[in-house]
Amino acid sequence: MRIVLGVSGGIAAYKACSLLRRFTESGHDVTVVPTAASLNFVGEATWAALSGRPAQHEVFEQVHEVPHVRLGQSADLVVVAPATADVLAKAAHGMADDLLTNTLLTARCPVVLAPAMHTEMWLHPATQANVATLRERGVHVMDPASGRLTGADSGPGRLAEPDEIAAYALAAVGDQARPGATGDLSGCHVLISAGGTREALDPVRYLGNRSSGKQGYALAADAAARGARVTLVSTTERPAPPGVEVVTVESALELRDAMLARAAGADAVVMAAAVADFRPAERATSKIKKTHDPADPDAAPTIELVRNPDILVELVQQRGPASAPVIVGFAAETGDEHGDLLSYAREKLERKGCDLLVANEVGEGVTFGQDISTVHLLRRGSEDVRTVGPADKSAVAAAVWDAVVAMRAAP
Ligand code: CTP
Repeated sequence: MRIVLGVSGGIAAYKACSLLRRFTESGHDVTVVPTAASLNFVGEATWAALSGRPAQHEVFEQVHEVPHVRLGQSADLVVVAPATADVLAKAAHGMADDLLTNTLLTARCPVVLAPAMHTEMWLHPATQANVATLRERGVHVMDPASGRLTGADSGPGRLAEPDEIAAYALAAVGDQARPGATGDLSGCHVLISAGGTREALDPVRYLGNRSSGKQGYALAADAAARGARVTLVSTTERPAPPGVEVVTVESALELRDAMLARAAGADAVVMAAAVADFRPAERATSKIKKTHDPADPDAAPTIELVRNPDILVELVQQRGPASAPVIVGFAAETGDEHGDLLSYAREKLERKGCDLLVANEVGEGVTFGQDISTVHLLRRGSEDVRTVGPADKSAVAAAVWDAVVAMRAAP
């Protein structure tokens, strides 16, 4: 696939190097079109070396090849990352004062813009109106991530992670160029849970875990690219992959209700969420004060916990003897002195009764929130184990769907 990667002038331009790598490593031809301002952050030599071809930014270079029209016309996908407020404004108003904006006007393929700017600029009514205009015209404008910005400030405006942009962009074109993505989930409805649950203690505090939701989002993006109708029940506010219906929940009980209500009509259900096994027995209606016991001002409160239901087990019970949906569980395992990771995973697969278990190697700094993980796929009724990784979460997602497709073909 021919991809034009536009890079505009923001500090996040360095992240576009990883994005470019993702595209080239999956076999795409990428032409980088940096704006003049972006060259202050990442120079032409970097783009040329990483893409294997000269970066193009001048309308009046190689005029005989008419680059200002040719690049857009011949592209299968245009991605701009980062897209600054200025580029969004120019695109919304059809301005064409450099090669990138000319390319945006001539492109007839899917166009994906991944914004990055300060929160004030993103939330400004002018930017929001430009984004609304572009989306109405069918341009895929991702929501920026929230978090630390260039300085000490934080808020919405961070460029989404390269993996997320790549998955989003490839889903926008139906990912026809990726081997294996042949629409083998078309006609299927898949239901996925993602993220860590938050169990409220009071209106301001909760018990939570380190799950980022990245694996669930990668599963959703890959399933959508393979033609599935996707419902993602999520505890996080990551940008949703195109075409994916997102249901936002917070606690294990909310997640359970959302999953059980939708599972009956699904062809596959994947529990990628990190569900809290316990929740506070009581949720205070007002903030718990430091001196909560007037008789003993220094006393620390005791939090009583109760067990949460096991949603995966309930999904298996709700399905009963029917063969659909295929039910997939994840298992965060470390192994210890009593057993190794695989023996714990095998035991969990039997205990939960799901069809496939994806055993994830976890530990300090491993898997949670990271882009790379190693997983082992265990199928009920089979001794075979398929190991994937260390690999990024989109490769893990592809392996999970490959297994689901195989199980549907030969239950
Ligand atoms: N899960 C669930 N409901 C829970 C706990 C876990 O549906 N209350 C699901 C997870 O989404 C995952 C699988 O069960 O798909 C395994 O989760 P994991 O935390 O590894 O297993 P636990 O049952 O909590 O067992 P343990 O913590 O003892 O390893």
